[in-house]
Amino acid sequence: MRLLIDDADMGEIRRLYDLYPIDGVTTNPSILAKTGREPYDVLKEIRGFIGREADLHVQAIAMDAEGMVRDAQAIVKAFGEATFVKIPCIPEGFKAMKLLKTQGIRTTGTAIYTPMQAYLAAKSGASYAAPYINRIDDMGYDGIHVTKEIQDILAANRFGTMVLAASFKNSQQVLELCKYGVGGATVAPAVMDKFVNHAAVTAAVDVFVKDFENLAGEGTTMAELLKG
Ligand code: G3P
Repeated sequence: MRLLIDDADMGEIRRLYDLYPIDGVTTNPSILAKTGREPYDVLKEIRGFIGREADLHVQAIAMDAEGMVRDAQAIVKAFGEATFVKIPCIPEGFKAMKLLKTQGIRTTGTAIYTPMQAYLAAKSGASYAAPYINRIDDMGYDGIHVTKEIQDILAANRFGTMVLAASFKNSQQVLELCKYGVGGATVAPAVMDKFVNHAAVTAAVDVFVKDFENLAGEGTTMAELLKG
């Protein structure tokens, strides 16, 4: 399962890239708005930091298919071919996905709340289909269940499209989809920080260090102990 950061804050992106095996960054207009910065500057900085080959997802803004295509062409020109253009899964969006497929521009069908949207995105040639788990839960449905259904539909129809699950509220939801073999998850920093968040783990590591320091002296590491 690919693991992406769902945020545009450079401090958070740098911090999480440093710690974890991250495959890329996803953004949307609301995420860009949170930075309070010029969108072009932010996206250019993210691309510069993650490198030319890493996945970057940037959303088209136009509401009609022709406008979405123009947005997509401009996005790929500005941020490179490893950029996936997020296209909302509305009727005009499917038209845009079909057109962009013929132009070799990769798309992510976004704002997915139902399996039918994901099916149509896949059939229209999207590389990814992005269901919003937390937002589906908030509507009174089961976001994880819907996402698993989408995964099954993509597999049963042998689409090349992968699930890119989004809008998580906790790390167990991410793990549940990891077990189910979805293609990717894009996770906000606050949820990623809870991936490994257990007092027992910290306590175990503290005991190891204390036991070693009792043997070798306070603050001694293996590097210091073994240096020539
Ligand atoms: O990538 C889509 C995602 O950003 C939506 O997440 O947390 O705003 O529901 P959220």
